[in-house]
Amino acid sequence: MRHLLSAESISEDTFNEIYDLSLSLKGLLRSGRKKFSALRGKSVLNLFYEPSTRTRTSFEMAGKLLSADVINISTSFSSVKKGETLLDTVRTIDMMHPDAVVLRHPCEGSCDLVSSMVDAAIINGGDGCHEHPSQALIDAVTVREFRGKVEGLKVVIIGDVSHSRVARSDAILFRKLGAEVFIYGPSTMMPRFPQALGVKVLSSFDDVVDVADVVILLRIQLERQSARKVFPSLREYAELYGLNGKRVSQFGEDVLILHPGPVNRGVELNDEVMKWKGTLIFYQVENGLSVRMVLLSMVTGRIDRLKEEIDA
Ligand code: CP
Repeated sequence: MRHLLSAESISEDTFNEIYDLSLSLKGLLRSGRKKFSALRGKSVLNLFYEPSTRTRTSFEMAGKLLSADVINISTSFSSVKKGETLLDTVRTIDMMHPDAVVLRHPCEGSCDLVSSMVDAAIINGGDGCHEHPSQALIDAVTVREFRGKVEGLKVVIIGDVSHSRVARSDAILFRKLGAEVFIYGPSTMMPRFPQALGVKVLSSFDDVVDVADVVILLRIQLERQSARKVFPSLREYAELYGLNGKRVSQFGEDVLILHPGPVNRGVELNDEVMKWKGTLIFYQVENGLSVRMVLLSMVTGRIDRLKEEIDA
């Protein structure tokens, strides 16, 4: 894997490899292992133009656990503040020869654009409303871990689908792995051409209950809705589309609830749902670390070293 720009580029074989290695790594991390040497001598740079807790921290921890040198660039303390363009910033960084750059940027296609201009491997840490492929990997790994498979499952994505890079990457990857993907939410938050994503739009919560094996909730992307209001208020959204104890009790025993985070408690879900037995939000975070350790090893050409360490 040269770069990770889109869920499109993740083959079923690559997913299977990432699944096996990330679960093995998780076992080792849980047993107290704190250091691997697979990325010794490699450098990883986190360049985030938008806020992040999970993605940035887990890529940083993943790099450090693998013995890479990890550098975080905060755009608010960089020359981005003085007007330097994304391309000039990335070219400047590339001249310092990092092996991998994890980039989050508000512009769709930004990761794709810079990937053709640099030597470093680019990992898309989220580009506008476009894609968040490492999150899709985490979600698919988590579902397979808890359901034993992805193929044949019915996955319902609820919420602000039109603004969600997670929804797009999830739809691409889950479909590729043989799941059927549905979406549900206010019509103003649905994509104009759902067929282009290969998803079906559900029209009621009863439909969600009827079909769902897996429910993926999305955060309302208020920061991407400034130009036009797509829902009257968060309170109305919570009443009509939010998941609560009463709604979640209608699901079957083994339905899984995922959310990429950060969660707006009381909007897309409430405290009862956070505590529900099928809710895997914090397991997603844990899997995020080991999945990103595997990804960093893949894009830096050190996956064989990582495998040797896991097998030792
Ligand atoms: N899921 C996700 O991308 O979370 P962060 O914005 O905290 O990185």
